[in-house]
Amino acid sequence: MDRLVIEGGHPLVGRVRVSGAKNATLPLMCATLLGSGRSHLRNVPDLRDVRTMGKLLGVLGARVDAKGDELFIDTVGAEGVEAPYDLVKTMRASVVCLGPLVAKRGQARVSLPGGCAIGERPIDQHLKGLSAMGAKIELTGGYVVASAKRLKGADITMDLVTVTGTENLMMAAVLAKGTTTLRNAAREPEVMDLARALNAAGARISGVGTATIVIKGVDEMGPLDHAVMADRIEAGTYMVAAGITRGELTIAEAPLEHLTAVVGKLKEAGLRFQQTPKGVVVSARRAPRPVHVITGPYPGFPTDMQAQIMALMALSTGSSVIQETIFENRLMHTSELRRLGASIEVTGSTAVVKGARRLHGAPVMATDLRASACLVLAALAAEGTTYIGRVYHLDRGYERIDQKLIAAGASIHREPEPKAQG
Ligand code: EPU
Repeated sequence: MDRLVIEGGHPLVGRVRVSGAKNATLPLMCATLLGSGRSHLRNVPDLRDVRTMGKLLGVLGARVDAKGDELFIDTVGAEGVEAPYDLVKTMRASVVCLGPLVAKRGQARVSLPGGCAIGERPIDQHLKGLSAMGAKIELTGGYVVASAKRLKGADITMDLVTVTGTENLMMAAVLAKGTTTLRNAAREPEVMDLARALNAAGARISGVGTATIVIKGVDEMGPLDHAVMADRIEAGTYMVAAGITRGELTIAEAPLEHLTAVVGKLKEAGLRFQQTPKGVVVSARRAPRPVHVITGPYPGFPTDMQAQIMALMALSTGSSVIQETIFENRLMHTSELRRLGASIEVTGSTAVVKGARRLHGAPVMATDLRASACLVLAALAAEGTTYIGRVYHLDRGYERIDQKLIAAGASIHREPEPKAQG
């Protein structure tokens, strides 16, 4: 296992390019299961989660070839229906193969994902929707076993806003007989990207980007040919990197139209934004002002940026309140931030962060993907050296983050984690 060694205190100056979005790529890869043919995805990020999804598609009978940032997925003759525990346990997003499998192959055996570091994360809404579309669902031996000769359109109101739940049901509905209406649907840009790709391959989906999505079922789907949207969370993370180090980063391909809540808060904190032909230039000269943040479904402030803005607030000039409303256990980074000298009090799902004048390096440990990003950001601004263990979390979702930051002047190196003593 590797760790990152970060020598803090260098303002980041330069240019970073945002990669394709992880959370758009993973459902798009599963969507290729709806058609029979050779799909082509472009602007695909090189990430551990993408490789895991490639393995899963392989198990399901598809042939997956990667060439630079392109993926070719051939589903001709693919017949597998089982997503095994070994893969699903390493990546919850595997569950988005459920809808396409039942819709296309009439059957799916998908391991239940179980809880994870950020919370319980049940999939009851996915199952409720599939069952309303006529799927027979059984839970047995830790697996969801779903079957249907052909799914039927249904009118489904989800109890809460779920991103992968919306994606799963939207994909299932594409091949169902009749019309499906999904109410209280997620409006995340990744859902829109998926719908765009599906429509171009023959689906008839409307209403994406609103809370009501209508899908008219079709008899067959062609292969996908799609360029993945840019990663808004990666872009937001680099914006914070510019602000926290009081540097100036030109962020190319940042999807600003999907970042209004994040950019709004960062501007409130005093970061400066300037649009240029080369990208958005984000800079800061002084310590950030405190801001209050409450996470919410899109277009609210994304939970996937909560940990990163907390790192920035750890160095603000006052007290800020950060409330997590999406996941019940997504404040684990607070205890690691404290090890770097941050002053944070947590009550339930609310953190009160008292800005410190400076943070100081220390050994810390990443607990999940966004918590790792938060620690990298804090380390970039801390005095001295920070050792971040369990970097594999970062590699799941940030393409070459260390290389990109080094190119902008960060002092980072990767080394094997020393074995624990005793
Ligand atoms: N929920 C249920 N029942 C369900 C589905 C969800 O109770 O059937 C709850 C969850 O437990 C959670 C809330 O609803 O409390 C929202 O969860 P959601 O289903 O929207 O999350 P997800 O689809 O599993 C995706 C992203 C996450 C991101 C969330 C929220 C992917 C692959 N993952 O997860 O990304 O945090 O939406 O925006 O798209 C990350 O990239 O670091 C990450 C965790």
